[in-house]
Amino acid sequence: MTEPKKLFIKTYGCQMNVYDSERMAEALGGQGYVETKSPDDADMILLNTCHIREKAAEKVYSELGRFKGLKAEKPDLKIGVAGCVAQAEGEEIMRRQPMVDLVVGPQSYHRLPEMEAKTRDGEKALDTDFPEEDKFEKLKTRPKAKRGPTAFLTVQEGCDKFCAFCVVPYTRGAEVSRPADRIIREAQDLVERGVREITLLGQNVNAYHGAGPNGDMTLAGLIWELNKVDGLERIRFTTSHPNDMGDDLIEAHGTCEKLMPYLHLPVQSGSDKILKRMNRSHTAESYLRLIERIREARPDILMSGDFIVGFPEETEDDFQATLDLVEEVKYGYAYSFKYSTRPGTPAAERPQVKTHIADDRLQRLQAMITRHQREIQDAMVGRTVSVLFEKPGRQPGQMVGKSEYLHAVHVSDADVASGELRQVRITASGANSLAGKLL
Ligand code: 5AD
Ligand code: SF4
Repeated sequence: MTEPKKLFIKTYGCQMNVYDSERMAEALGGQGYVETKSPDDADMILLNTCHIREKAAEKVYSELGRFKGLKAEKPDLKIGVAGCVAQAEGEEIMRRQPMVDLVVGPQSYHRLPEMEAKTRDGEKALDTDFPEEDKFEKLKTRPKAKRGPTAFLTVQEGCDKFCAFCVVPYTRGAEVSRPADRIIREAQDLVERGVREITLLGQNVNAYHGAGPNGDMTLAGLIWELNKVDGLERIRFTTSHPNDMGDDLIEAHGTCEKLMPYLHLPVQSGSDKILKRMNRSHTAESYLRLIERIREARPDILMSGDFIVGFPEETEDDFQATLDLVEEVKYGYAYSFKYSTRPGTPAAERPQVKTHIADDRLQRLQAMITRHQREIQDAMVGRTVSVLFEKPGRQPGQMVGKSEYLHAVHVSDADVASGELRQVRITASGANSLAGKLL
């Protein structure tokens, strides 16, 4: 029997990349690869890259540079670049780093096995097409391999919104939804393999409109179908756009028992002037009213969001409007970023805010977000939450899992296994997690 070849995948960026890396590992599994945790003993190194912020391409080139020694020692080592930097840079990657054997864009992952075969023949393989065929159907998951209790499942990909700062519409392409029956089959398969919680993924997940038995389905329709899957306990979804928050989805937050009370709904800025320049097509006010309606449906929902500070021409007043909005919403989690120029996007051409000003705003925003996050987490003490246990904690005898609000919760000396869903009374709030006792 031949030794299995070893594959090392390094994943950057979003949860969709995590999902994609799993699919790529499975596709290459068919070519005789097993995963390894170390690049040193790998026969193939694959970087699954992200292009969304800060000097992404440069980072990839320098990371590749670090594998030069390995490749010199082991000429058979194959090096590949996948993900959004692969899509954006294409052939340029092989030009700048001739040791790269394979460059594959996110829409071509199902072609990896053929591409890998090509590299074995000593050829270079490049594919950054946006093919017509259904990548997901061709990237069938490996049957019956056991899984942990949580999993991602991509239901929608790409984006037609063209926010002025964002590369996603260019790297992931136009918005495409997968047919509902295939998603449900994949969910059933995940559950059979031990999964209890599924996070539906899409760059614009709430714009989902996949084919169902009676015409296109909305995300809420899909969630109701998944709600029927026996053994599946929890459903989440990310990332949503405020303009696609349909009435049925808002309502589902109040009525669908498996849908978790957590919503990631990025607003990016609290200034209408900036929102307009970002091409967001919503206002701060319409966003706040939307949250009001969501909270009417599900009062305890934990909100999360994304913010960009220092967007071109953002003034102190614009920034203040962002702080006001954050103060009003009070996010349980929020991710804030300093604007970074993405070549080819409209905002890249606009007058930029000075770095020290953007740095200062980022710090002030993050301080406010951290304060709210703390308050919300601390307010969980004394409450009873449901926890899906995932793995042993850092201390002996400890188990950790996530509450319905996505807070990490750990219990000590408890008889509980990974995959169990248990009621826990919260007793303390630590730096990044809650402590509790099983009920
Ligand atoms: N600069 C800074 N942040 C960005 N994001 C997307 N593009 C940029 C950019 N050019 C942020 C947005 C988005 C999140 C995934 O990344 O806040 O919601
Ligand atoms: Fe990018 Fe999201 Fe805007 Fe689409 S909606 S362009 S993915 S920020």
